This record gives sequence, C-alpha cells and structure tokens, in this order.
Amino acid sequence: MKIGTVTEIKNHEYRVGLTPSSAKSYIAHGHEVYIQKGAGIEAGYLDIDYVKEGGQILETPQDVFAEVDMIVKVKEPQPSEYPLFKKGQILYTYLHLAADLELTQELRKTGIKGIAYETMELPDGSLPCLKPMSEIAGRLSVQEGAKYLEKAFGGRGVLLGGVPGVRRGKVAILGGGVVGTNACKMAVGLGADVTILDISARRLEYLDDIFDGKISTLYSTPHNIEEVLKESDLVIGAVLVHGAKAPKLVRREHLKLMKPGAVLVDVAVDQGGCIETTHPTTHENPTFIIDGVVHYCVANMPGSVPVTSTEALNSVTLPYGLQIADKGVVKACRENDVIKKGLNLYEGKCVYHEVAEALGIEYTDLDSLLK
Ligand SMILES: NC(=O)c1ccc[n+]([C@@H]2O[C@H](COP(=O)([O-])OP(=O)(O)OC[C@H]3O[C@@H](n4cnc5c(N)ncnc54)[C@H](O)[C@@H]3O)[C@@H](O)[C@H]2O)c1
Repeated sequence: MKIGTVTEIKNHEYRVGLTPSSAKSYIAHGHEVYIQKGAGIEAGYLDIDYVKEGGQILETPQDVFAEVDMIVKVKEPQPSEYPLFKKGQILYTYLHLAADLELTQELRKTGIKGIAYETMELPDGSLPCLKPMSEIAGRLSVQEGAKYLEKAFGGRGVLLGGVPGVRRGKVAILGGGVVGTNACKMAVGLGADVTILDISARRLEYLDDIFDGKISTLYSTPHNIEEVLKESDLVIGAVLVHGAKAPKLVRREHLKLMKPGAVLVDVAVDQGGCIETTHPTTHENPTFIIDGVVHYCVANMPGSVPVTSTEALNSVTLPYGLQIADKGVVKACRENDVIKKGLNLYEGKCVYHEVAEALGIEYTDLDSLLK
C-alpha cells in the first residue's frame, strides 16, 4: 500500500502523523511512504530523516493525497483538504466527528474510509490512542499551573515545592484518571502538598497505594470540593464522564472562596470543562482572570510539546496502522475489534452509531458492510 502524511494545517498544530521511525516500519512491511516536504519540521524531523528510512518526499499536499492509498494525520481534515481526497482512500487520524456535522458531511461526500483514533477502544473500555495525550496534558497541567502561580503571570507568587522552613504549595486534583494521575506524579515530584479527589473508591484506593502515603485522597463531594478550593494554590480539573459533558464541579460562586491569585487549570475543557467559568483558550492566549483566580483552559495542551506528543502518538497508532495497511480496512476490522471500533466512515456511510445519533444522520450497520 502507499501511505502518506502531510503538514498539519490546523491552527497551532505542530505534530505530524508519521515519524521517520514509523515510516521505516511501514516500509519494512513492504509499503511505500510519501511525506509532504517539511511536514515533520515542527516536530523535530527533517525531510532527510525520512529519506534515510526509505521515505519519499513530495512537494505539495496535493501530490501526497493524489499518490497514496492511506493518509495518516493528526487532526481532522481542514476545508482546503476536503477536495483532495480520493474515493476509497483510507484516512487514519483524530476525527472528532460527533461535534462537527459539516466535517462529517464533507467527508461522507469524499467516499473515504475514516478511522478515528479517539474511538478505537480496548475491551476494558479504555482508549489506547487517546491515553498518551491525557498523560501529556496531565503532566503539563502542573508545569503550566506552576508557571501561572508566579507573580509575573498573574498568580499569587507561590513556589509549589516551598523551601526548608516555608510551607509547600497546595495542589488539588479533581478526577484521578489518566490526566489526574499524571498531574499527581508531577506535583508530587515538585514537592507540592497534593490532594486528589474522585468519585470512584477503587480509583482512590489505587492512587493511595501507588503514591504510598505521599498524597491525600478524598471522595469528590460538594463539601470536600469547597474545602480544598479554600486552601489550594493550584486546582486541576481532570474529570471525565464517558460520552457526556464534564460535570461542573466548581461553580462561579466558589471562586470567592479561593485565594486571590490561585490558579485553575481545567484540562477537561475539551468536554465543556468542569469549572463553570471555563471557556476554551489557546496557546497564544492561554489564561484569563475571574474574581482574582487565574484560569488556564487550553483545549489542545499536547500541541505545545509536539516533539514529545508526536512520538507518543506514533507509538500507539503505529501497531494498528500497520495492520490496516497490511490487511486493508475490511480484513483489519474483521480481525481486530479495536480497529473496528475506530471505523467511523465507510465510503459515504456513517458506521459509528454514537456519531450518527449525535449528528442526527443515517447510521449503517458496519457488520452488514463487512460481510
Ligand atoms: N485539554 C487537553 O489538551 C486535554 C488533553 C487530554 C485529555 N483531556 C481531557 O481531560 C479529561 C480527563 O481525561 P482522562 O483521560 O484523565 O479521563 P479518565 O476517564 O482516565 O479519568 C476521569 C476520572 O474522572 C473521575 N470522575 C468522574 N466524575 C467525577 C467527579 N464528579 N468528581 C471527581 N472525579 C470524577 C472518574 O472516576 C475518572 O477517574 C477529559 O475530558 C479529556 O478529554 C484534555
């Protein structure tokens, strides 16, 4: 199969779909790999790095789309890319169709086979191609929070680790899943005084075990949340209710309880946020202040560390990508349920039930197509 990747053109997206190492793996499986000139530069890869692994460089996105059978990307296609697709071409990327009717309808018209990273699901319900981005966002949340606690950035001027003889900064983490656990690791590493809240007793038990007495765990109740808000320097919103908008755990009136210059990092902003006063911000303009509390609500946090996030993304997408390339979409879906769960669009038909339902469009049963 011919596999290709192009420069990401979404605002402030610096990752790239294929690393030179991934290109090498596809080539070792007997495929050809085509890269748009300069596509990897912002993620730390030169054209020559791909060429050394056997990849071929093409001048424009038009050249890549015209040449290949399978496009491997990071973000959903942008309007200028819609006309470039060929019928039957495989698109392997984050798609997030459920929130975007226009994109879905445009991609249906192209007749592509669209496999979305975010809906690929393991039997235990976990999402392997989303996990590394949550890990990165969790770790970044503390790094960013620590920065915005500095006076010059609007914060109250607290060093999270304190110094001998001076109290450590207090961090509260709402939600102890992938984001929350990674935030916790970083905050503990910086020497902060960390409390993590979750509604799952099993999760709190697990966190208590792995952090071995270095953190406090609390049930996430309105009372406990109010208590931690009063005393925290940094609060990280990391909750997720699968398939739903994030619950609003911090309300506008709660901000008055907080210390002036405290920082809220709402990582759950991409699901609407778990803080009532959240609205999505960008890396260019990441924060705003309400009632003296600094809000950091960047919706694509991993975008600011493209070198790390490209490598992390490739490490999880490559094994499935190789199966798709080796077997074709139909056989790969028949033989691997994770890939089957990822298939959202098949030659004009929407084959992912939740997407069809969310957008009010016709759903086609995938099994009938795979027969
Ligand atoms: N902003 C970004 O760049 C970015 C990047 C990656 C992930 N995210 C988002 O971060 C959020 C968390 O992702 P995750 O991978 O950690 O999810 P996860 O499913 O691993 O963890 C979510 C946790 O929230 C807990 N939870 C649910 N309701 C709660 C409540 N009322 N109080 C306290 N805890 C509660 C769950 O029990 C679970 O442990 C998601 O919305 C995800 O989309 C954002």
